[in-house]
Amino acid sequence: MLNLSSLKKLQEARAKLHTSQKIAVLTGAGISQESGIPTFRGQGGLWREYRAEDLATPEAYARDPLLVWEWYQMRFHTVLRAEPNSAHYALAELEKTKDLILVSQNVDGLHKRAGSSRILELHGNITLSRCERCLHLDELKENFSLPPFCSRCHARARPNVVWFGEALPQAIFGQAVEAFHNAELALVIGTSAVVEPAASLALLAKEQGAYLIEINPEPTPLSPLVNFSLMTTASQGMQLLLGK
Ligand code: OAD
Repeated sequence: MLNLSSLKKLQEARAKLHTSQKIAVLTGAGISQESGIPTFRGQGGLWREYRAEDLATPEAYARDPLLVWEWYQMRFHTVLRAEPNSAHYALAELEKTKDLILVSQNVDGLHKRAGSSRILELHGNITLSRCERCLHLDELKENFSLPPFCSRCHARARPNVVWFGEALPQAIFGQAVEAFHNAELALVIGTSAVVEPAASLALLAKEQGAYLIEINPEPTPLSPLVNFSLMTTASQGMQLLLGK
């Protein structure tokens, strides 16, 4: 239940959303939590059960490619079974009336399945493999065998994700910076905001005078800096924000 001052802030946030045309959104694993996809750092999070150094670095892949692939295949199967939730759909709906760019750290592809079209995937996409030689991308089939090989040049392919120690795809990150730089309103949903450079995008928008809204049931390093914080799940937060 919102108290009077939170209700006033919510009304202000709704009004800002209504009057803003240029909107930049940053999503993290939390937005897909209600779709049954585990986050990384929270309760039941992947990094509580697995070590990133063993599974999500170029060194881990060089050491044991099949082990790394098995882990990504397991996560791919979770993603295949998952469906977008109402928060994904609400963002796709908002894109129809706003100049909205959706920047996601997620590799699950659920934003696209929900109908969003202007998506910048900062950390890649788990449903694709990338050729180690010619960089060609192939869509993974449900029962793909390990390791997958490139459909074009037949070299071994790796998961199409960004690992720790690797640079983000520069062109995509450049577009994300531009979107947050130009945004009148920035919305940050379901990220612990501890992984750079994604976490700094919201600050960039704030420095340029954007109105900053966060939706997250837990506080993050961004929380003290935002104009309005909705401390709830992504689906409920979007519902409150859109007044539906
Ligand atoms: P984290 O697991 O670090 O953070 C998930 C956030 O979602 C937390 O702040 C939770 O409080 C919040 N959360 C949990 N349930 C939620 C819900 N139902 N609705 C809204 N929020 C909820 O995930 P990310 O911030 O996405 O990178 O992590 C960033 C990057 O770190 C990932 O892309 C991944 C990881 O290591 C790579 O693998 C390169």
